[in-house]
Amino acid sequence: MRRLIAGNWKMHKTVSETREYIEKFLRLVEHPESREILLCPPFTSLYVAGEMLEGSGVKLGAQNCHYEKSGPYTGEVSPPMLKEVGCEYVIIGHSERRQLFGESDEVINKKLVACLEEGLRPILCVGETREEREAGMTFKVIETQVRLALSGIEEHTDRIDIAYEPVWAIGSGTPATPQDAVEVHTFIRQLLSEINPKNEGRTRILYGGSVKPQNAKEFMKHEEINGLLVGGASLDPESFAQIVYSF
Ligand code: PGA
Repeated sequence: MRRLIAGNWKMHKTVSETREYIEKFLRLVEHPESREILLCPPFTSLYVAGEMLEGSGVKLGAQNCHYEKSGPYTGEVSPPMLKEVGCEYVIIGHSERRQLFGESDEVINKKLVACLEEGLRPILCVGETREEREAGMTFKVIETQVRLALSGIEEHTDRIDIAYEPVWAIGSGTPATPQDAVEVHTFIRQLLSEINPKNEGRTRILYGGSVKPQNAKEFMKHEEINGLLVGGASLDPESFAQIVYSF
């Protein structure tokens, strides 16, 4: 299983900034077979990014999608639209989507189903808030999010990756400790083998939340951590390339 290093740009970079980034980034990364590199720009940049990344080995992903293929959903973008511009991945259920845009576990489940139908590989994000962690509810919260998200698609867990992103670590400058991450990753791994005994470790479990070039290696030392989902530090091509090559 190749480890996955994904950059989530969130609502950053215009089309011209995307061009500039990718020109620089492709000079910095060769594509070693041992790792998979993914960029997730905003919707408006996907087309140009798709053209530029073609044949480079660096993959393209979106940050969200709707669960219908088309229809009267003003402002939304569907899985077939993403597929056509070259996306292979879609981030689903990021905590910013859950918290700021009211995405429920039920909607997240529908989005996962829609991505799988389209042949897109979803990265399902799960994670507890600071209050939930302090109340000792971390495992319960993660279990609920994972079970509800995967409901009805249990036998397809090998076509999904999961990112553990503690909400309190995102954008805060304070990541989880690698030990905390390993503990939750191990829990998710066990849960996956319960949900789908045939999974056999084919779902990658990534860590996300304040990953930087300075700390990436500490996470990637652990075999339980199958990759990283990087926000802020992926916005600069040099810092993202350093993370890609940190292990
Ligand atoms: P961060 O974001 O690296 O800026 O903490 C991670 C994420 O939200 O995916």
